[in-house]
Amino acid sequence: GGTRMSTNGAPAVPQEPRPEREAVAHRLLMCRPQYFDVTYRINPWMNPEKPTDTGTALLQWEQLRELYLSLGHTVEVVEPIEGLPDMVFAANGATVVDGKVLGARFRHRERTAEGPAYLDWFARHGFHDLLWPEHINEGEGDYLRVGRRLLAGTGFRTDARSHAEAQEFFGLPVTGLTLVDPNFYHLDTALSVLSEDEIMYYPPAFSPGSRAVLREMFPDAVLASGQDAAVFGLNAFSDGLNVLLPQAATGLAAQVKERGFRPVAVSLGELLKAGGSVKCCTLVLS
Ligand code: ARG
Repeated sequence: GGTRMSTNGAPAVPQEPRPEREAVAHRLLMCRPQYFDVTYRINPWMNPEKPTDTGTALLQWEQLRELYLSLGHTVEVVEPIEGLPDMVFAANGATVVDGKVLGARFRHRERTAEGPAYLDWFARHGFHDLLWPEHINEGEGDYLRVGRRLLAGTGFRTDARSHAEAQEFFGLPVTGLTLVDPNFYHLDTALSVLSEDEIMYYPPAFSPGSRAVLREMFPDAVLASGQDAAVFGLNAFSDGLNVLLPQAATGLAAQVKERGFRPVAVSLGELLKAGGSVKCCTLVLS
């Protein structure tokens, strides 16, 4: 287009050129869905009546792991435990910032044993600054780092008192956000971090006050449509360039592409039967 003019005739301030996107190599933790199944219902996506296929889950999970490797990331795996069908959702296992590990304490007894299991993996893999938490929190399902701050979900799983505990432990500002729609029960189902200062989210998943906070902090955020949110499009992982997201979220893929990111479609339909996708399967170690 031509030069934009402001109403008083002076040339408008030129738009800042978009920064070159660059991928940051991460170290990730995943858990093979060897014992994946839907045997209980702790979120509206789960229907124990509906059949699941562990073979398909394993295949889709393996494709995600290989995709991470092909993009230059490192993937560690934690041994799955029989009887813990949701352990594949590694994001819930802990929260790691600057090598410090805040353990997870689950809301539902069906998943309680996962907390110590994950913390044990950390203790045996060179992490020394570990905290067994006082308050219920579901790891990186509800804690997402954006630059040098943390966004923290509450409303369904993580206890709001955990936010102060995390702030004290990590020494980083924690902003609490209240989730209000049971379909988006973890923060990482309604909000995704794209870069050190950019996010995308689905406003109706948040309380009015939390929506206002997000507008205040991220006025230029990518806003997801209801359609994209409903296919778990926000359960995405970004390395600053590549944005891995569920393949059905075609609108979001186009929106992030418009911002200079490279959308990469991932098919994890089997795991969605438990209410999880890309980000849920991924715990960011560094
Ligand atoms: N079935 C699991 C639960 O309801 C899914 C967890 C998804 N994980 C996530 N990070 N959102 O707890």
